[in-house]
Amino acid sequence: MTKAGSPPTDSIKPPLWVNAEITYKCPLHCVFCYNPLNYAETFEKELSSAEWIKALRQARELGAVQLGISGGEPLMRDDVEEIVAEASNMGYYVNLLTSGIGLTEKRIAAFKAGGLDQIQLSFQDSTREMNDFLSSTKTFDLKLKVARLIKQYDYPMVLNVVLHRLNIDHIEQILQMAEEMQADHVELANSQYYAWALKNREHLMPSREQLEHAEAVCNQFRARLGNKMKLYFVVPDYYQDRPKACMNGWGTVFLNIAPDGLALPCHEARMLPGLDFPNLRDQDVRSIWYESEAFNAYRGDSWMKEPCRSCDEKDKDFGGCRCQAFMLTGDARNADPVCSKSPHHTLVTDQVALAQQPRLPDNQVRPLIIFRDDRNSRQFT
Ligand code: FES
Repeated sequence: MTKAGSPPTDSIKPPLWVNAEITYKCPLHCVFCYNPLNYAETFEKELSSAEWIKALRQARELGAVQLGISGGEPLMRDDVEEIVAEASNMGYYVNLLTSGIGLTEKRIAAFKAGGLDQIQLSFQDSTREMNDFLSSTKTFDLKLKVARLIKQYDYPMVLNVVLHRLNIDHIEQILQMAEEMQADHVELANSQYYAWALKNREHLMPSREQLEHAEAVCNQFRARLGNKMKLYFVVPDYYQDRPKACMNGWGTVFLNIAPDGLALPCHEARMLPGLDFPNLRDQDVRSIWYESEAFNAYRGDSWMKEPCRSCDEKDKDFGGCRCQAFMLTGDARNADPVCSKSPHHTLVTDQVALAQQPRLPDNQVRPLIIFRDDRNSRQFT
């Protein structure tokens, strides 16, 4: 059943991109993690291998072509090889998103044999000290080993580093590290302020000066390396005056499946009130995608309030991010406050103003980072 005012089913395109969050378990405890805060509750309820394969087959039959296998740390499960091989046989382009922890030579050989197309490896920084501090683990050297394995097994090296106030000034060293690793693609996305990252927002948001410097360094590397190492640099949306077209629009291309089988239009949607998200254990992908109330809730524009409803840019950004609108204003139907037309825009500009204050190592502003592991605050010195 489509909700009144939602577009008719035949105007809904099938999902193209499935993100399978096969577990929220993770040995790392990153201070900018966007996974749910109550993620431990799903541990006992993870889908089995057979349930994952069934759901992925249904999505593929609908037309999905890209599959991300992520988490948490997906390698915490010992059936990733089986899921990858099955998905590859179905015709998906399969990308494994990993911290590298758990990627042994035996496992990467199995992935190669099973048809895995790409491995995206995340680092927290170019220095052992900061990488290990931010993830609250001693994992830097292990990640370097995994980077070598990825090249050895002839995968494109896709390196991902989340940028923020604490590591963005290392941009040159991060890119040098990427070059030494012979990275083919480098994704430098600034932290988005959801879940745990929102808790640490004031300690993570870079200043404008930091961003401009980082972008200039990226441009220098681009000019020197050209296509040899493709660089993607994404500024925090707080610094824009129009919101991002989150997920390319709710329920248009992206289907996220949480470890417990909950089907979501984005990673964060679980927190939105008033929506009863369907579960793959109870419903098939077709009925979830086309008919569920949750997936139809923010399709089209009938849900929009002003200023979005009469905005001539609404088909470009769809009013921005529903989750960010809810987190910052308390109503997911409001315009994303990143938009300068939003009556709540000062919620964003106030944070940006705060981020221009002196940064480390200035003793007046020492970040109190809240960690996911023991929930203790620690100071970075
Ligand atoms: Fe949920 Fe943007 S993260 S709509």
